[in-house]
Amino acid sequence: MTNVDIPNLTAFDEAALEQAFAALAKEASDDAAALTNPAAVEAFRLQWLGRKQGRLNEVSARWLKAAPSEAKKSLGQRFNALKKHVEELLEAGAGAGSTWSDSALAAEAIDITLPGTQRLLGAEHPITRTLNEITQVFAALGYSVGGGPEVETDYYNFECMNFPPGHPARDTQDTLVIANQERRPLRDRLLLRTHTSPVQMRTMESQPPPVRIIIPGKVHRNDAQDATHSPIFHQVEGLCVDTNITFSDLKGTLDHAMKALFGSSVKTRFFPSFFPFTEPSADVQISCIFCGGKGCRKCKQSGWIELLGCGMVDPAVFAFAAQKQPAYDPRKISGFAFGMGVERIAMMKYGISEIGQFYAGDMRFLGQFA
Ligand code: PHE
Repeated sequence: MTNVDIPNLTAFDEAALEQAFAALAKEASDDAAALTNPAAVEAFRLQWLGRKQGRLNEVSARWLKAAPSEAKKSLGQRFNALKKHVEELLEAGAGAGSTWSDSALAAEAIDITLPGTQRLLGAEHPITRTLNEITQVFAALGYSVGGGPEVETDYYNFECMNFPPGHPARDTQDTLVIANQERRPLRDRLLLRTHTSPVQMRTMESQPPPVRIIIPGKVHRNDAQDATHSPIFHQVEGLCVDTNITFSDLKGTLDHAMKALFGSSVKTRFFPSFFPFTEPSADVQISCIFCGGKGCRKCKQSGWIELLGCGMVDPAVFAFAAQKQPAYDPRKISGFAFGMGVERIAMMKYGISEIGQFYAGDMRFLGQFA
């Protein structure tokens, strides 16, 4: 685009100036009205306002310089007015009713017929949800919630829980052990905790009785994966210590908790069992929630399903705690503890037959809990 079309002015009287500027203003308006796309608008801007070859630049170079001094003021004012006019044309999208702004918009508009971006709603994982449900049942009974490390020492995981070195009960809870610790004393060696019970001791060491606490967490065992076992799973531990805590308190608490979790018609029964850290110990069974106790495939026709371990805290465990908190004197206080597998409870509640579903991250499975 050349701007030789800006003629030299020969007369500088008011009438001549008026005519010359009016002609340019009209030209600018006409140009602007014909713009149909953003590229043309940019070309218009360059043509009129371009620093080197813009028409206004040319006007200033040819007219302003050649004007006799008495015409300079008027010419300057007219020049500024023209510049403003051009800028307004640009700003206003070259005027209402012109077509370029609509088509420019159309070129950049969103295609509203395309499918939108779907953002899926998040939801609690069924394990998290079950864990929270269990927590709420005990929170309502006045229990607080605690936690402890997943990488534990041999002392907390086994020794103070009354599994002395070499005790055969250790074999039932084999796990991963951190390598290259042979130079450390056995009690300090690190392993992945096999149960949440070590947090019983950590809790008692940090606070005197009375204690009512539940401890949800992840645990590890050398178990082969099958439909109902996983080498990593979750437990909720419970501990209640006070004066005069009896086995009836344990039964009443767990019977209530099972009814709260599975429905008020569920019955519980307690079978003698063994854990090094409780005496006496029991396995808790609930009446089969699938057949109501009549006997079905799920309960192997027995009408009962085993759900958790529990017992009265062994005096030997209190003796370990009393090394740091003398108030855990087994002659003065008593308590019970229990531990339940979260996956097992979730599988029962939601009718899941493969434990691996919890960890597979399959949206078709997880989406059912949204
Ligand atoms: N810690 C035991 C286990 O993992 C469960 C348990 C906890 C049993 C507390 C009794 C008391 O098997």
